[in-house]
Amino acid sequence: MKVTVVGAGAVGASCAEYIAIKDFASEVVLLDIKEGYAEGKAMDLMQTASLNGFDTKITGVTGDYSKTADSDICVITSGIPRKPGMTREELIGINAGIVKTVSSSLIEHSPDTIIIVVSNPMDTMTYLVHQSTDLPKNRIIGMGGALDSARFKYRLAEALGAPISDVDGMVIGGHSDTGMVPLVSHATRNSVKVSEFLSEERLEQVKEDTKVGGATLTKLLGTSAWYAPGAAVSALVQAIACDQKKIFPCSTLLDGEYGLSDICIGVPVVLGKNGIEKIVDIPLSDAEKAHMQSSAEGVRKTNGLLSVEA
Ligand code: 2OP
Repeated sequence: MKVTVVGAGAVGASCAEYIAIKDFASEVVLLDIKEGYAEGKAMDLMQTASLNGFDTKITGVTGDYSKTADSDICVITSGIPRKPGMTREELIGINAGIVKTVSSSLIEHSPDTIIIVVSNPMDTMTYLVHQSTDLPKNRIIGMGGALDSARFKYRLAEALGAPISDVDGMVIGGHSDTGMVPLVSHATRNSVKVSEFLSEERLEQVKEDTKVGGATLTKLLGTSAWYAPGAAVSALVQAIACDQKKIFPCSTLLDGEYGLSDICIGVPVVLGKNGIEKIVDIPLSDAEKAHMQSSAEGVRKTNGLLSVEA
C-alpha cells in the first residue's frame, strides 16, 4: 500500500506520521516544492521508526512527481493555511491553482489513485478536482467532516464531563465556520441521547464552539491547526487502505442526495477499498435540513469563484 502526501507542512507531516505509526502502509511519499523540506521531514520521521515501532518507509521528495507513481491513495494538503481572522474561503485565490496543478500531476503518475483533498476551502477544492480531472466520483474525497466531528466529540465530552470514548457524534455540511451542521439529534453518550444530559442552551454552545473550532485554534496558534487535521486524514486513509467499511462524514459530489446536486459537501459515507462506497442517507431534523440547505448555498457561492481563480 503506497500513500503520497503532497505538502510537507504541519498537516501533511502529521498525516504522514500518524499513517506510519498505524503501520498499515508499506510506503509514504512526502512531497513538497520547498527544496529539501520533504526530505528533511521524512528523514526526521524515519528516525522515530525504532522508537515508535513502525516499518512503514517514509521518503521525501522535492517536486518530482515520478516518485509518487502508482500511489494507491494521494492526500493533497498543499496550499497556504489561514491566518487569525481569515476564513477558509479567502484562501481560494492561491490554493485553487495549486490544487489543480497538484491533482493533475498526481493522476499523471497514479491514474488509479484515490485522492483525498484537505486544502481549503476544502469543499470547493474537492469540487475543483472533479471539474479538472476525469477521476470517478468515488475516488475524490474531501476531508473536513471527520475533523469537525472530532472537535464536536471533544466539546460534547467537555460539556458532559464524560470520557471521549463514551461520546459519539457527527458533523455534516460545509467545512466552514458558518456552514457546519453538528448533528445534535444523533449525538449520544454511550447510546443515550446527549439531550438527556445537556440543556438546549448548553447544546447550542457546543454547536457554536464546534463550528469555530478551527478559527479558535488559528487564533491561539497564529496559523491553522495540524494535529487533529493530520489525524483525521490518517483515519480516512486507513479506512480505505484496510477496506474497513467505516462511516465518516466526507465531502463528496452529490447527485440528488440530501436534496442537493452538483456540489461537494460533507455527508455520511462508507469508506472502503474503492473510496466512497456508499452515501448514507440519515434522517435529519427540520432545523438540520434547513441548516444543510443554507450550508450548501455558502459552498455554491465559493464554488462560483472558481471560474475566476482556477
Ligand atoms: C481546520 O479546520 C485546517 O480547515 C482545517 O483546522
